[in-house]
Amino acid sequence: MGELIIVNSVENAPEPESHEPQEPQEPQHEVGVGPWEGEWPTGDRWDPELLENGDRRNVLDQYRYWKHDAIVAELDSRRHEFHIAIENWQHDLNIGTVVRTANAFLAKEVHIIGRRRWNRRGAMVTDKYQHIRHHPTVDDFVAWAQAEGYTIIGIDIFPDSVPLETFDLPKRCVLVFGQEGPGLSAEVHDAAAATLSIEQFGSTRSMNAASAAAIAMHAWIRRHVFNQRVS
Ligand SMILES: C[S@@+](CC[C@H](N)C(=O)[O-])C[C@H]1O[C@@H](n2cnc3c(N)ncnc32)[C@H](O)[C@@H]1O
Repeated sequence: MGELIIVNSVENAPEPESHEPQEPQEPQHEVGVGPWEGEWPTGDRWDPELLENGDRRNVLDQYRYWKHDAIVAELDSRRHEFHIAIENWQHDLNIGTVVRTANAFLAKEVHIIGRRRWNRRGAMVTDKYQHIRHHPTVDDFVAWAQAEGYTIIGIDIFPDSVPLETFDLPKRCVLVFGQEGPGLSAEVHDAAAATLSIEQFGSTRSMNAASAAAIAMHAWIRRHVFNQRVS
């Protein structure tokens, strides 16, 4: 393998001024490895172009020089049982970050409900490695969940919400998040088997959807990967 090259923080990149959806971009500073040194490895997973020119993608070292499809196939072989969904009626800037976290926790799929276009900036290209399905309406999304046997769990602070911290999350579920402002729609609220709130202690009424999504996904990981039961 070539030599690992430094990594400036991609988190410090300036935010775009426009709130319009952006094309996904690889980080602009140089990350990754240079051209493969020595005899090339053999096998289908290796990408000749990356071996020749180096691999500057934002991926784990174990995937260096792998073809994109080979990485996705390897991830597919061990994805977790939970899905996540987020409503997208007003181009919510949280969605990219939610997708990035879904990739980190290896969600089976991400569902975008509402508008098809979403701002990919916060995804940092992780959307290329994540299965993303679009549902134009809540009805369409609910029909998918019912057909596939996934329990819909809403995440929001409704009067009838119960605490996430003590709720036994089903293994086969889809966690649904609302967007800034309106939060979860009444249709999703009605379709959910339960709606869960995350306990807060400060002065603000809610946190942003991306933070809530990270906490809820991690709750699923703790319960079903680490077998940490709730009381
Ligand atoms: C900014 S909140 C929307 C406003 C919120 N419905 C309200 O009544 O103030 C955006 C999304 O983040 C998630 N969220 C934020 N704070 C949360 C909390 N404490 N518990 C559960 N979900 C939360 C929910 O999915 C929500 O739809």
